[in-house]
Amino acid sequence: MNNPVSYRFSASTVHYHFSERLQDLQKLVAKDRTVIITDDNVFDHHKSRFRGWNTIVLRPGEAYKVQATVDSIISQLIALQVDRQFTLVGVGGGVVTDLTGYVASVYMRGISFGFVPTTVLAMVDASIGGKNGIDVGPYKNMVGVIRQPSFILYDYDLLKTLPDAQWSDGFAEVIKHACIRDAAAFRMLESTDLAALRRDKEGLQALIQRNARLKSGIVKKDEFEKGDRKLLNFGHTLGHALETQYALSHGQAVAIGMYHACRFSEAHLDFSETDRVARVLGQYGLPSDAVFDADKVLGILQMDKKRVSKEINYILLQKIGKAVICPLPLATIGKWVRKAGVGKHKKAMPEK
Ligand SMILES: NC(=O)c1ccc[n+]([C@@H]2O[C@H](COP(=O)([O-])OP(=O)(O)OC[C@H]3O[C@@H](n4cnc5c(N)ncnc54)[C@H](O)[C@@H]3O)[C@@H](O)[C@H]2O)c1
Ligand SMILES: [Zn+2]
Repeated sequence: MNNPVSYRFSASTVHYHFSERLQDLQKLVAKDRTVIITDDNVFDHHKSRFRGWNTIVLRPGEAYKVQATVDSIISQLIALQVDRQFTLVGVGGGVVTDLTGYVASVYMRGISFGFVPTTVLAMVDASIGGKNGIDVGPYKNMVGVIRQPSFILYDYDLLKTLPDAQWSDGFAEVIKHACIRDAAAFRMLESTDLAALRRDKEGLQALIQRNARLKSGIVKKDEFEKGDRKLLNFGHTLGHALETQYALSHGQAVAIGMYHACRFSEAHLDFSETDRVARVLGQYGLPSDAVFDADKVLGILQMDKKRVSKEINYILLQKIGKAVICPLPLATIGKWVRKAGVGKHKKAMPEK
C-alpha cells in the first residue's frame, strides 16, 4: 500500500488511504477481528470482495439510519462475540458510514472503526469529519457523536456501479466546496461536465482527493463547528427546508439552496456570479432555480437547529471560492425567501 495521508484531529489521527483497493483492507485490519457493515446494494454489486469477512448487511436507505438498526447491529455484534479488540469497517454510502461510526462509538463504550466510502458523497463529505449519528422521526442526524475513524480507504473502482442520481448528489457537495474555498476547482468543474469526468479516471480521482483534503482541512481547524466548519453549510439552510418539504434528493435540495444563497449574496454582499454557479450545477445534472412555497419553507427555517435566538448563520459568497458566515435576522431571510419563492398562484415543486 502507498503511504497514507494523515490528518491529526483533537483526539486522534485519521489515515487516508487514497487510491487503494478494497482487497487491501486486510493490510489495515485483521480479518478475524473485523466486522464489515454494508448495505444490500453495495454487497450485491461487489459480493466477491466481501468473501471471508464477517459482514453485517443492512437494508439500504435513509429510512434505516435509525435506532432500530443500531439495536439490530449491536445484537449481531454480541452474537459474533465482538470485543474491544475488534474494528468495525463501514463499506458504503453516508448512511452506512454514519451508522458504523455511531455504533462503534457506543458499543462497549467505543471500539475502533474505519470507512470505505462507496458513493461520491461519502468520499468527499460523509466519511470525513467525525460526525456520526442517526435520525429520529423527521429530525435528521438528531442523535450522534463526533469521533474520528482510524482510517478511510478509497477504492474508486467501487463507483462503477453507482447510479446516475447518486453521482449528481455527490457533485452538489463538490460544487459546494469549490464555491466556498476553491476557485481553481470551480474553474476546473466549469471546463468539463459530469459525463466527461466520469470517463476521466485520473481527473476524477484527483478531484475526489482534493475535496477530501479540503473538507479535512476545514474540520481540522474547527472540529466542533465554532467557526469555519459552518461554511460547509453553504446551500444547506434553505436546502434542508426544501428537502423536508419536497420530493428532492439531498443534492438537488442543496443545489437549489446554493443557487438562492448566491442570489442572497448579490443582495447582501457584492457577489455577481450567480449565473456561473447555476451553469455549473446544470453541467452536473443538478437544478438551480425552482419554485417553492415561501411560507412553508419559512416555517421550517424558523425551527432550524442552527438558529441562535432570532438570527440564522447564513453562509453567503463574497466571490466564488470565498464564503462568509453572516448572522442574519430572520426577518431579512424571510424577505429574501419570499422574493425567491412564490405565493399560491404558481405551481411549486411536487411535495413529498
Ligand atoms: N457525517 C457527515 O458529516 C455527513 C455529511 C454528509 C452526509 N451525511 C449523511 O450521508 C447520507 C447520505 O449519503 P449517501 O448519499 O452516500 O447515501 P446512501 O448511503 O443512502 O447511498 C445512496 C444509495 O446508493 C447505494 N450505493 C452506495 N454505494 C453504491 C455503489 N458503489 N454502487 C451502487 N449503489 C451504491 C446505497 O445502497 C443507497 O441506495 C445521509 O444520511 C447524510 O445525513 C453525513
Ligand atoms: Zn450535504
